[in-house]
Amino acid sequence: MVLVHAPSCDIILWAREHRSRTRAEREVRNRRQKETLVKNGRAHGVIVYANREPVGWCQYGPREELPRIDHSRNYRGLAPTGEKEKLWRITCFVVDKNYRKGGVANTALKAVLEGIRNKGGGLVEAIPVSKTDQGPGYMYTGTVSMFQKAGFKTVGPFGTGRTTTVVMRRTI
Ligand SMILES: CC(C)(COP(=O)(O)OP(=O)(O)OC[C@H]1O[C@@H](n2cnc3c(N)ncnc32)[C@H](O)[C@@H]1OP(=O)(O)O)[C@@H](O)C(=O)NCCC(=O)NCCS
Repeated sequence: MVLVHAPSCDIILWAREHRSRTRAEREVRNRRQKETLVKNGRAHGVIVYANREPVGWCQYGPREELPRIDHSRNYRGLAPTGEKEKLWRITCFVVDKNYRKGGVANTALKAVLEGIRNKGGGLVEAIPVSKTDQGPGYMYTGTVSMFQKAGFKTVGPFGTGRTTTVVMRRTI
């Protein structure tokens, strides 16, 4: 099992209903909870390799695995109605600094969409960054242009401030 997962990284946060208090607390709790999720088959992700080394990661999964956004006030008016299709979420990317701007995240996105299609498909949701002046560290949900190119459409604005995000969706 490969865990491409920095201990203080809050990738796990998307799978949690509420946030932990301190960084140290989060590191221990994140690793333990991620390992449990993997062992229980409740963690989906794609790892991109270059020369047999993992260089990029993208987390995705069905809504039940990644429920945090459901509790956000900004999401309330944007939640899908009807609930006919299964809802999937693509929540987080991380690419090794030495491999950035070379298409690794785009490759991961393609593979994730293929994975979702192979699992029966449904409505796929992401919250990519539409604008930021805070650098690539704040672009962990991907960029709007990546998702546009992959056939996603904007549903509405989500995050505000220096880094703005939007909810985007497409059916697979
Ligand atoms: C954001 C990130 C995932 C992009 O990965 P990448 O492999 O460099 O991305 P790609 O080369 O596939 O490019 C994807 C898109 O993002 C854009 N992009 C990538 N880096 C960018 C940057 N620094 N500024 C602006 N746009 C950028 C590209 O132009 C591309 O857009 P396009 O598809 O319209 O051409 C990467 O910079 C990263 O890992 N950042 C840190 C995220 C992080 O901290 N994650 C863990 C937190 S939990």
